[in-house]
Amino acid sequence: MNKTEFISVAGFAISLLFHMTQTEVCPSSCNCKSLGEMKGLHIDCSSRKLTEVPALPVNTKRLYLQNNSLTSVPPGALDSLRSLEEVKIFDNPWNCDCHILYLKLWLEDVSAPSLANIRCATPAPLKKKPLSQLTGNELGICKRLLPIKCLEFFWRDLILIAGAITTLILVAWALKFSKNILCETEIMDAY
Ligand SMILES: *[C@@H]1O[C@H](CO)[C@@H](O)[C@H](O)[C@H]1NC(C)=O
Repeated sequence: MNKTEFISVAGFAISLLFHMTQTEVCPSSCNCKSLGEMKGLHIDCSSRKLTEVPALPVNTKRLYLQNNSLTSVPPGALDSLRSLEEVKIFDNPWNCDCHILYLKLWLEDVSAPSLANIRCATPAPLKKKPLSQLTGNELGICKRLLPIKCLEFFWRDLILIAGAITTLILVAWALKFSKNILCETEIMDAY
């Protein structure tokens, strides 16, 4: 196999892998229609008692998720939908804690009108409040998210630093010890 052949085979393998990692299929719980000329999918997942957003094809153009039992959307879950033009996601029992921030920001970017008719179900003080009107204060900060990760890094770094210091001390001690032996043998030789 020469160089150009190798490059084209590798390129093909990589593009195949890329296509396999992207979901192209209609979620089993939804109804999908091809939009033909418009090169995209119309995906209707409404009124299906869904508690999680299903894995969606990247070429989703219209997405209907209204009237389900969604409480939250995992961060990043909708980022791959680059060709989205319309989304309906109202009538879901949204839990408006700090984790709802991803959905709020995503809708602000993708479809401000669909954000307007989203209301919180929980926690009690925020019941029926429009998500668009919530401030950072009301949503709270995801205290749990950052410090755990930071702590992990903190302990890992501490262990690394302790390891480095121990190694240095051992090396210094070993050097000193070998020098002592050297000196002693030189002194012995002198006599
Ligand atoms: C909402 O979904 C339920 C089934 O989960 C259905 O019975 C009801 O008619 C739907 N409501 C609307 C307004 O579509």
